[in-house]
Amino acid sequence: MVTPGRSDGALVADLTVGQPAVDVLPLEELAEAARAALPGNPKALLYTHTEGAAELIDVVRAKLQHYEGLDLDRDQIAITSGSSQAIDLVLRTFTELDGPLAMDEVSYGAIPARRLTGRVDHIPFDDDGPQPEAVARHARALDRPFVFYTMPTFQNPTGMTVGMTRRRELLDVCRAEGVPILEDDAYYELRYEGERVPSLLELDGGSGLVVRTGTFSKILGAGIRLGWMASSAPLIDRVLRLKPDSGTSPFASAIAARFMQDHMESQIARVRAFYRDKRDLIMEALDRHLEDRAAWRTPEGGFFVWITFDPSRDVAAIVRECAERGVRVRSGAEFRVDGDTRHAIRLAFSHTEPQAIERGVEILGEVVAEQ
Ligand SMILES: Cc1ncc(COP(=O)(O)O)c(C=O)c1O
Repeated sequence: MVTPGRSDGALVADLTVGQPAVDVLPLEELAEAARAALPGNPKALLYTHTEGAAELIDVVRAKLQHYEGLDLDRDQIAITSGSSQAIDLVLRTFTELDGPLAMDEVSYGAIPARRLTGRVDHIPFDDDGPQPEAVARHARALDRPFVFYTMPTFQNPTGMTVGMTRRRELLDVCRAEGVPILEDDAYYELRYEGERVPSLLELDGGSGLVVRTGTFSKILGAGIRLGWMASSAPLIDRVLRLKPDSGTSPFASAIAARFMQDHMESQIARVRAFYRDKRDLIMEALDRHLEDRAAWRTPEGGFFVWITFDPSRDVAAIVRECAERGVRVRSGAEFRVDGDTRHAIRLAFSHTEPQAIERGVEILGEVVAEQ
């Protein structure tokens, strides 16, 4: 439990976890959905097809249609055990054992990718996102195929969203060089402000150059372990050859599908409003307690704020001292693919109670001021 107040070894605030908040978990509505979905539905407790339960595939289609005007056929989508499984399957489809894999220079993906292959290359960022010329250079320098794993919307950990022009440039380069793209879109629904930017999948028109992954973890609850991937039908078919189960939990899928049929719009509106307030709260706390001692951009969506410090700062020492005082933050170095120890930390605001966020940022400010 998070208890506000000065530490005596106790946890004051955990700002490391990208978990959903307990207050927006729709437990009662899911219980109702289970009561509606299970009686008379033996399919929920039998094996299903590798691509997953048809009713949940239809929910993903309906969601993409409703929020993005994107029309996909059933065989362009498959249900997975969280988007983590989809990411793993796509990376394994394109990455031979120990084969090269390229990703954003700083990425949540650094964590799963390190388990997968000995070789993770990075695509450097500029202010607009991953640099297309770097993708082209990389493709020409390598004699083996690779996949580009990127997160253009509410990037984890930087919170950055790549604009239309850069998205098109990246697609053009990847198309010309024959580089498939894994678009990890875990936070797409959680936009708090600004204009919607079309996904790479949408901009590509579903040719099969892009596989996009998404998840129910952030809108419904991470414990339900349901995610999805979408691409061209042949590519989904190819990726599914590596899926070892007989379809992701038909039981959880039946309940989630029923819940989404009844509550999709209200639940997405609810989580958006809830996390927008939390995002605003952490931004205000940062303004109050860090002032001009660090830099950050307000993320338009997602769960994270990326704080960068002057290179003279010792970020590892800041992270250690915060922990001593009961505040857990993640060093940016954990997410760096390029081995650079760039001077940043990631703060997650989704799961932590408002009072703890405020106190945690206050203590972070004190630590930075004292250094
Ligand atoms: C960017 C990103 N992708 C994928 C995931 C995996 O989520 P899940 O497997 O719950 O869908 C996460 C989880 O935090 C994430 O932040």
